[in-house]
Amino acid sequence: LKIVVLVSGGGTNLQAIIDRIEDGTIENAKIEAVISNNLNAYALDRARKHGIKAECVSPKQYSRREEFNQELLKTIQGYEADLIVLAGYLVVVPECIIKEYRNRIINIHPSLIPSFCGKGYYGLNVHEGVLKRGVKITGATVHFVDEGTDTGPIILQKSVEVEEGDTPERLQKRVMEQAEWVILPEAIRLIANNEVTVCDGIVKRK
Ligand code: GRF
Repeated sequence: LKIVVLVSGGGTNLQAIIDRIEDGTIENAKIEAVISNNLNAYALDRARKHGIKAECVSPKQYSRREEFNQELLKTIQGYEADLIVLAGYLVVVPECIIKEYRNRIINIHPSLIPSFCGKGYYGLNVHEGVLKRGVKITGATVHFVDEGTDTGPIILQKSVEVEEGDTPERLQKRVMEQAEWVILPEAIRLIANNEVTVCDGIVKRK
């Protein structure tokens, strides 16, 4: 399975995928490239340290958004990606890519969808919302990406306890460590082993 990972920030989810491939947990999958919209994303440095092609394709490099959209699609196709993984990617995925890669783009979201997701809920905002509402259980979700925001078929979820005195930062760290870094590589392992299928918008195990 040829994978292209899209990133914007620190790349800790990318690192989890790299680690699971290198330790053999994920077989028959290879990260062909890591692409960021942010030239300074530490995720790009993580890729380079592991001999993985790393490049920046950003809307800022183009006068029209449509040009960026086409350029990103061409770049991904150039790597012959079978699967696109959004790992902390903060740019809206262009429609042309969603259509070309139907049910072949996955995203990690740091809550139990459909709670605390959609427009405006990304990064720390998610955990601030969780603490504000006072829910006792949160977690993370890996889902296929469709035209909406955090609305595609759910592949895996993992719950995490909210603890007394949690700050958004402390909660984010626990959700990343205990959930994101576990279910994103696991979803890739399932897909690489051709163990998931989508039926009427519901992900099923083969
Ligand atoms: C984090 O907020 C994480 O919850 C979300 O993307 C952000 C950055 O993750 N999935 P990473 O360290 O760049 O993978």
